[in-house]
Order: sequence, then C-alpha cells, then structure tokens
Amino acid sequence: MRFRAAEPEALEARYRARLFNSASGMRTAVLIGTKSKSGNENLAIFSNIFHVGANPPLIGFIMRPINRERHTYKNISDTGYFTVNHIPFRAHAAAHQTSAKYPEDRSEFEACGFDPEYTDGFFAPFCADSPVRSGCRLEYETEIPVNGTRLIVGRILLLEAEDHCTADDGFIDLAKAGVTAVTGLDAYHTVSPPKRYAYAEPDRDPKSLHP
Ligand SMILES: Cc1cc2nc3c(=O)[nH]c(=O)nc-3n(C[C@H](O)[C@H](O)[C@H](O)COP(=O)(O)O)c2cc1C
Repeated sequence: MRFRAAEPEALEARYRARLFNSASGMRTAVLIGTKSKSGNENLAIFSNIFHVGANPPLIGFIMRPINRERHTYKNISDTGYFTVNHIPFRAHAAAHQTSAKYPEDRSEFEACGFDPEYTDGFFAPFCADSPVRSGCRLEYETEIPVNGTRLIVGRILLLEAEDHCTADDGFIDLAKAGVTAVTGLDAYHTVSPPKRYAYAEPDRDPKSLHP
C-alpha cells in the first residue's frame, strides 16, 4: 500500500503544505542576513536555496509571495546585499525562531541569540559563528507567475569556510562543518559524512575517492 495524493486541491491547507514541502526533499537550512537602508539588521531562516552556477558564482533561493511585510526581501531590494550563513546544528532551535514575525525594528540577531559580524566592509551582516558563509549581491529576480513566489539570484562576492571542513580540491565537507539540514518547515537533521566519487564515465565502475 502507498499513500496517494491524487487531488492535492482537496487537502486541508496546512496538511498539504507539510506534505509537499517534505516530499520535495531534505535541504540545507541557512540564515539570510540583511540590513535595511536605515541600519536595522535582519536575520531569517530559509531552506529553498540552491546552487545556480559557479562561473560567476551564483546562489538562488525562493522567496514567498510578497503579500505581507517581508523584511529580508525589502532589505535585499533596497540595498542589493545579503549574506547566506550555514547553521551549526547546536543553533538549530534558535535558527528556527528567526522565522517568527518580529517587527522590522527588532533584530533577530539580538532576539534569537546570533552575533552579527561585518567582514571586508561587506554591507550585510554575517553570523559570527557560521562555519560556511557567503556574502552576496542581488543579481537577478523574477516572479514565478503560477504562485507569486520570487526567484532571487545573488552573486557570491565573498565565501568563507572554516579550514577544518575545506578540502584541498575545493570541496566543502558540510558534515565536518556540523551544519543543519531540514525537511519541510520544522524537522531538523544533522548531516552524515559523505562518500565521494570521481567524475562518472559511461560503462566504468564508480571510483571512490576514499583510500
Ligand atoms: C525551516 C524553514 C525554512 C524556511 N524557508 C523559507 C524559504 O525558503 N523561503 C521563504 O520565503 N521563507 C522561508 N521560511 C519562512 C521565513 O523564515 C519567514 O517568512 C520569516 O519570517 C522571514 O522573515 P523576514 O520577514 O524577516 O524576512 C522558512 C521557515 C522555516 C522555519
């Protein structure tokens, strides 16, 4: 037997949201740091975030429809800058709390216990204890007409990863970094150590990169 949802429209809204948000898979949870034109810092958790390209380095995420105040969106639109900060697993509950609707003049850094840090004169604040973090400039955005969500694409101007999780070939080991993954909007996971393989060739056995 398998559970089937052949008529999604008939499902209760929250049930449907949980169902489809978890069915699309586990993702990395990040904290997006921004600052308003008037200097208010903002921090919020996002998980619909993905690699768009490496040359130039681009990262994308999906923003919910702008049908209410969305501080991350407003700050990015107004200033053009944001940071993407991986979350140490020990901080996942505090990171979850950043999704609460705090007023614009209340910083989630302060309210949820994250220290802001400014590096290299970057306009938007980073999370001080994030092991892997990127400073981005808004490069492109567009509305996805079918549901009013927005695709935001940023160019990574600055990437920082702790030495102990950065391999000589450029790979960042997010398990060593101890970051947080999430299913849907409320189920947080640790990350298991990876198995790495050489570039796949047709009709050749996968070649492990481990000794
Ligand atoms: C685990 C988790 C993942 C989330 N991922 C997203 C996301 O990818 N896109 C989005 O627009 N909102 C996402 N949210 C909701 C935002 O965190 C929430 O709307 C937050 O209040 C935004 O804060 P802001 O108004 O300060 O930008 C997520 C919430 C949680 C708990």
